[in-house]
Amino acid sequence: MFKIALLPGDGIGPEIIAEAAKVLRAVGDKYGHELEFKEGLIGGAALDEGGEGLPQDTLDLCRQSDAVLMGAVGGPKWDSLPGNKRPEAALLGIRKALGLFANLRPAKVFPALAGASSLKREVVDGIDLVVVRELTGGIYFGQPKGREGDRAVDTMAYSVPEIERIARVAFELAMKRKGRVTSVDKANVLETSRLWREVVIRVSEDYPEVHLEHMYVDNCAMQLLRDPGQFDVILTGNMFGDILSDEAAMLTGSLGMLPSASLGEGTLGLYEPVHGSAPDIAGKGVANPLATIMSAAMLLRYSLGLTEEAARIEWAVGTVLDQGYRTPDIAEEGCVPVGTREMGDLIVRAIQS
Ligand code: IPM
Ligand code: MG
Repeated sequence: MFKIALLPGDGIGPEIIAEAAKVLRAVGDKYGHELEFKEGLIGGAALDEGGEGLPQDTLDLCRQSDAVLMGAVGGPKWDSLPGNKRPEAALLGIRKALGLFANLRPAKVFPALAGASSLKREVVDGIDLVVVRELTGGIYFGQPKGREGDRAVDTMAYSVPEIERIARVAFELAMKRKGRVTSVDKANVLETSRLWREVVIRVSEDYPEVHLEHMYVDNCAMQLLRDPGQFDVILTGNMFGDILSDEAAMLTGSLGMLPSASLGEGTLGLYEPVHGSAPDIAGKGVANPLATIMSAAMLLRYSLGLTEEAARIEWAVGTVLDQGYRTPDIAEEGCVPVGTREMGDLIVRAIQS
């Protein structure tokens, strides 16, 4: 039996998690796996309930599970809280507490959606990349951090072991893909980036089959728009990865389509859509559940080792898109408009077919 923790969170979180759980149940039934789901509170939902964004109960639940599937956190209701109390702090806290230092964010174009991109179809057609983002270090976590009178400080810090382990994840992944790593930094300005480059070069010597290239982050932001097809694995630090992964996601048509996996040393992982809690459309039944459903596929692949089952979900998503079904964020002329729940039902039916 596999134990899966569900953390719906805020905004559209509960709606999209409901669909992804439905899809996982359908996969379990089809392939004969017993899946046990338990729900935990995180973010604003947890703050409202007990005053803490990341309750100990939730952490315990995650540690006792094989994998965690999360919706999204945050919303205007909690925006005036101090930084360390905001729902977002709970998300950073759970990543850190579970040691999830490697964030994988694949951006791939579904042929049926190439027209939904803001770039020309011929530019978008080639996109099949993964951003490997370091997730528990860098400027998000460096000390000191805070306010002092009329000054504010954040600190960017990276150590050799932190860079080494994320670099290994990127090279291992590249070996299973197109064999290219682009390491993104700002080594012309930042000392952390110069260390980053040195360490990445050293790690690359263990992977002679992989082609390594270095790119400054500003150039990378530009190259993603100019010729995104050149990238395979983009290896980068916490904040650069945050920014570049939103950019890469949007190239494929909609932020509503992109899944992510956050992994540590073991098999426990946290899976969540790249998009946020979208408070403006929460409760309306129109959110696109596909990023979360594909995050569930990554969960099957990376935490449960169920590769065929994961591929079945991804196939189902492609099939339903090919049939023309679209939530509003990816709608185009001539499509069949559907809501959150209908989209989930369609994926389930495709999986069962
Ligand atoms: C992400 C989000 C988070 C991050 C926020 C909500 C803390 O933007 O997962 O990309 O910056 O890591
Ligand atoms: Mg982000």
